Amino acid sequence: MFSDADAAALYDLLNPWDPDQRPEDSFYFPLVMGAESVLDVGCGTGSMLHLARERGHVGRLVGLDPDHAALERARRRADIEWTDGTAAEAERGANFELATMMGHAFQNLITDQDVRASLAGIHGALRPGGRFVFETRHPQARAWEGWTSSNPDDVAEVIDESGRALRYWHGVDSIAGDVVSISGTLAELDGTVLRGFTEDLRFLDVATLNGFLAEAAFEVEAQYGDWDMAPIGSSSREIITIARRG
Ligand SMILES: C[S@@+](CC[C@H](N)C(=O)[O-])C[C@H]1O[C@@H](n2cnc3c(N)ncnc32)[C@H](O)[C@@H]1O
Repeated sequence: MFSDADAAALYDLLNPWDPDQRPEDSFYFPLVMGAESVLDVGCGTGSMLHLARERGHVGRLVGLDPDHAALERARRRADIEWTDGTAAEAERGANFELATMMGHAFQNLITDQDVRASLAGIHGALRPGGRFVFETRHPQARAWEGWTSSNPDDVAEVIDESGRALRYWHGVDSIAGDVVSISGTLAELDGTVLRGFTEDLRFLDVATLNGFLAEAAFEVEAQYGDWDMAPIGSSSREIITIARRG
């Protein structure tokens, strides 16, 4: 009724990548355009790299993601390399100047082992002095409390590529330590449920995150609490990190 390919298309409708409109995209885009070679870890449907090429990036661009349907959509642009795999499987010795992990993809790394193996993979793919830039939601902001159908800001209505009117919302299934298990529900406007999605997201605090980075031989060059590059404070909703490979 609603295939993985449909879900990848829906992702793009719900999350249009646009540095002229969205502050998170305008934070990342100059970094990407200014780097000779870029590895986008957890690239999903590839929108960011598509736009980088479209706007004139001439260097090596590689998107890496374990989600086949998302990567199939990314492959609509053939002048970018697309690799099916996880962060831990990033190309060793590839000498990238920049690795990115955006759209809170870092929060898909659930266990300490996932985090360590992913950081080791990204470290191995960067050149010495290369940078890894990513964000994770700050646990103090408790973003999951807004992921409910009773929050109008969390209920999206879109028309999909085949003209169907759809409604999408989230709910929290459980919380165990710093891991929040959520579900997404996609329905027609009359309430007919088309598909459910489940996902675990880890909310690392700053000290734990920086401990993992140090252990993986990354030096934190800058850390922000918001896309305007404000420092992390008590009301920050994000932990945005620029880490340099030691
Ligand atoms: C919320 S999407 C973000 C996609 C894209 N970066 C964006 O900003 O729109 C998270 C992505 O992370 C990918 N992902 C999950 N686990 C991963 C892992 N271990 N290594 C790399 N990517 C992973 C998922 O397949 C998914 O495409």
